[in-house]
Amino acid sequence: MSDPTTSKALVVHFSQTGATRRVAEAAAAGLRAGGMQCTVAELLKTDPAEAAAYDVVGIGTPVFYYKEPPIVRRFIGRLPAADKKPAFTFITHGGNPVNTLRRMQKRLARRGYTVVNSFACNGFDSFPMYLKSFREWGRPSEDDLAAARDFGERLPGECRWLRDEPRFATPRYPFVGGKYFLLSHVLQGGMMKRTFPNHVVDPDVCTRCGLCARNCPTGAIRLDPLPTVNDDCIWCYLCERICPVQAYANEWAPLRKKMKVQ
Ligand SMILES: Cc1cc2nc3c(=O)[nH]c(=O)nc-3n(C[C@H](O)[C@H](O)[C@H](O)COP(=O)(O)O)c2cc1C
Repeated sequence: MSDPTTSKALVVHFSQTGATRRVAEAAAAGLRAGGMQCTVAELLKTDPAEAAAYDVVGIGTPVFYYKEPPIVRRFIGRLPAADKKPAFTFITHGGNPVNTLRRMQKRLARRGYTVVNSFACNGFDSFPMYLKSFREWGRPSEDDLAAARDFGERLPGECRWLRDEPRFATPRYPFVGGKYFLLSHVLQGGMMKRTFPNHVVDPDVCTRCGLCARNCPTGAIRLDPLPTVNDDCIWCYLCERICPVQAYANEWAPLRKKMKVQ
């Protein structure tokens, strides 16, 4: 491996509402201060093959339904195979990330990447079940971003440590079991479709304006000619919230009742 102080880092992030993007930029500023060249890239606009041209790869994501979203999982799975290439991860969350960092570490290891460190902080949480309100306004805070910058600045040294003392260079994340571990597995794919309100568009109300498709954070919506949602959906319901004519006729009452939310 080349000397990390002169090497190049790729910082890839997915971000629905901007929290993870801000952490990515802060970490990148730290990396540059630590002497690395650094490119910050949006996950959906990045070909995983590009990682081959970098010495260090960072991946950042918000936590959705107790884990990383499918598009992030797929991106990691498509990274070019490497041999102990240094990597780092960062997440923002609403207070319950469960095993997200551990999962990302394992998936990266399968592609030959060794996580040298990770960063986590709160982001403001727009999870739709909380009566569509927002929690944790103001996160990541200035202090969070300063910590993310410090994290970035320490990374070149940690990459060097991976080269010189590989035994100690990768973090061990405690396994979080119990109810939330189960939920992290249950709340995906077909089970989400059975449990959460499906995206139902009222054809008489929808104007086919395409606002939902243009703003879907994972590009999961196509106009066909009505909006249809594919399996890249992260169930954030932004489409429902921003529809100017309220054409999404999602039925929330049964889920609210089941989860005892008024
Ligand atoms: C649909 C949805 C599901 C979420 N699920 C979780 C979760 O399981 N655990 C958690 O800690 N935070 C959860 N959050 C909160 C987000 O991880 C948090 O708001 C994050 O900072 C958003 O980052 P972004 O602005 O980069 O998209 C969820 C948010 C949404 C909208």
